[in-house]
Amino acid sequence: MLSWTEHAQYTQNSKTGAEHFVGLHRSLAAHGRSPALCRSRQGTPDRPAPPRTQSRPLAAGMAQQYARGAAAVAVIRLNNPPLNTLSSAVVRALEQGVKKADVDPAVKAVVICGTNGTFSAGADIRGFSSVQAGDRPSLTSVINLIERSEKPVVAAIEGMALGGGLEVALGCHYRIAHVQAWVGLPEVTLGLLPGAGGTQRLPRLIGVPAALDLITTGKHVLAAEALKLGIIDEIVEENTIDAAIHLANKVSGLGTMGQGIVTSLVKAKMSVVALEQDQKQLEVGVRAVTSLLEHEASKMQWIGQRPDACDPALLQFTLDFGVLQDADLVIEAVFEDMALKKEIFHKLSAICKPGSFLCTNTSALDIDEIASATSRPHQVIGTHFFSPAHVMKLLEIIRGRHTSPITIATAMGLAKTIGKIGVVVGNCFGFVGNRMMTPYAEQAVFLLEEGCKPEEVDQALEGFGFNMGPFRMSDLAGLDVGWRSRKGQGLTGPELAPGTPARLRGRRRYSPLPDLLCENGRYGQKTGMGWYQYEKPGARIANPDPWLHNFLIGYRDSHHIKARFIDEEEILERCLYTLINEGFQILDDGIASAPEDIDVIYIHGYGWPKHRGGPMFYASTIGLPRILAKLQKYSEAHPDIPRVQPSAFLKKLVLVGNPPLKEWMSHAGHQSSKL
Ligand SMILES: NC(=O)c1ccc[n+]([C@@H]2O[C@H](COP(=O)([O-])OP(=O)(O)OC[C@H]3O[C@@H](n4cnc5c(N)ncnc54)[C@H](O)[C@@H]3O)[C@@H](O)[C@H]2O)c1
Repeated sequence: MLSWTEHAQYTQNSKTGAEHFVGLHRSLAAHGRSPALCRSRQGTPDRPAPPRTQSRPLAAGMAQQYARGAAAVAVIRLNNPPLNTLSSAVVRALEQGVKKADVDPAVKAVVICGTNGTFSAGADIRGFSSVQAGDRPSLTSVINLIERSEKPVVAAIEGMALGGGLEVALGCHYRIAHVQAWVGLPEVTLGLLPGAGGTQRLPRLIGVPAALDLITTGKHVLAAEALKLGIIDEIVEENTIDAAIHLANKVSGLGTMGQGIVTSLVKAKMSVVALEQDQKQLEVGVRAVTSLLEHEASKMQWIGQRPDACDPALLQFTLDFGVLQDADLVIEAVFEDMALKKEIFHKLSAICKPGSFLCTNTSALDIDEIASATSRPHQVIGTHFFSPAHVMKLLEIIRGRHTSPITIATAMGLAKTIGKIGVVVGNCFGFVGNRMMTPYAEQAVFLLEEGCKPEEVDQALEGFGFNMGPFRMSDLAGLDVGWRSRKGQGLTGPELAPGTPARLRGRRRYSPLPDLLCENGRYGQKTGMGWYQYEKPGARIANPDPWLHNFLIGYRDSHHIKARFIDEEEILERCLYTLINEGFQILDDGIASAPEDIDVIYIHGYGWPKHRGGPMFYASTIGLPRILAKLQKYSEAHPDIPRVQPSAFLKKLVLVGNPPLKEWMSHAGHQSSKL
């Protein structure tokens, strides 16, 4: 007979010190032996038991712990002594905790941990037979919920995280482990395979060979080895849960592009001067960069690199432009405003020494126009970092009309030095990555006009492998950003010529739907409504919205659009093939020098599912004749959407017999190359 208290607990660290307990408390008694997936509470014979985080009475411990963070961190504890196995009740309570944290606007980040020095030994195999399948909450769906949470979720691993326990941790966004923790997927020793996503998430995290080794042998690895493999992000020697809460607070405070760029440079041992416009912003920047550097230093220490690589002494903060006079290279990352960028470049050109290179971190703006504000356009180049800049690997390097080869080589060298993947591209609105996003997003909205709901479009693209479909992404980013840009271009708002048809701009199809949503105050998550509805402004869980569905019906009626059923195949083809078509146009325009460059950009900067190999590689697997035929079909049905018209380069490649991807560029005309 074994009796235990079985629950997961959810507590919240609020700024006010308020504390809630919403977990499931149940005393259960059951017969049986210890779960087969675990060894012993004391550790394995060849491995000492991990020191436990100081066991604390929950109420007192929480209050003390929570008072520390500037932002609210919800802590969810798996509690099923002795090894926190994932029984049905624990999984259900975990689900409740994650859902509550997700909708609670006071909660900025979440920590999942175990109790009494153990994260979790995995599934309780007795539960496999003792509970009716229909009653059992699915661990897979709860882990998916954790993974989809837009609030950062950090796993704090002490002792063991095995089997389902590791699968829970793999669903989290970050993993911190105690130095004596160990992790593994031992299912194979019972003749099973990991069944809650471990076979998918582990290879994505550490690559197929290392993952296969762990899955097929069932062996465990200690924290230091797990860090080297990339299973965990950080090791601590003392209180793991406190460290996770500390990290969760930082996570929630990731800064602007400038902060991430500075962090990347200092990590690469480069001496950096960080300039801000006022004291308040400077202080925010100092705090954020210092915190990021501390985190990076502890990571590097554990993977055997010298922590002095993150020496903050390399960094000087200033409000004085004059300090930049001796800089070899300047990276500007001010607001996306052409007039401001030109003003800054004019100033830099006057202050910086003649040999210094001037880089602009812009998402879409014309590099030549920015360079025109200087007396040295050959030394001006675009460096488009992706957010968060100290994490994301991609660096789009944009060559302007006058950019010299030495400037390009310097920017590429910089990318290499700071561990980024530099891709040189030509200068056009949105460059490669953002330009290809435009037809994708445009098709998504046209599909709504024709009969889809936002959730149907999102589900199709998430099923393809994107983390977020276009509408969830749009709600997250804020619909007002695009609205401002369209008003600026005169596509909507007071500048729109009177008498312009609602759904046409010139002879091109235009959808006013995003503008109408903004006019209704629906800016996305921040206003609690956008393409979806949210429990409150700022809440993250997107719920299908009956108001929006009715609005779409009324919109179609008023424009005499007959709604039709649109299947997943059409959703995917119209969104993805138009994105790919723009890629062919980009190759034809000489904006990218090879399809592989586009694929690298999409995989490392835009969340294109890696297993699909990048959009151009994906096109080659589908076959160009099929892509062309589908685009022709859709362009006949929609002659007013220019971006569906097949690119001349795609047609040419089909005409010459659908050559393999590596031969595409030998068929390109190079007259128009911008590279
Ligand atoms: N945020 C992103 O995800 C992202 C991604 C890629 C590229 N970008 C581009 O990077 C650039 C910066 O974006 P962000 O999101 O970091 O913006 P941000 O608003 O977070 O930061 C801009 C910073 O520039 C400072 N600044 C403004 N005027 C200044 C001046 N005259 N002198 C010194 N500092 C000044 C501001 O104080 C602020 O700290 C933009 O061009 C943006 O398009 C942003």
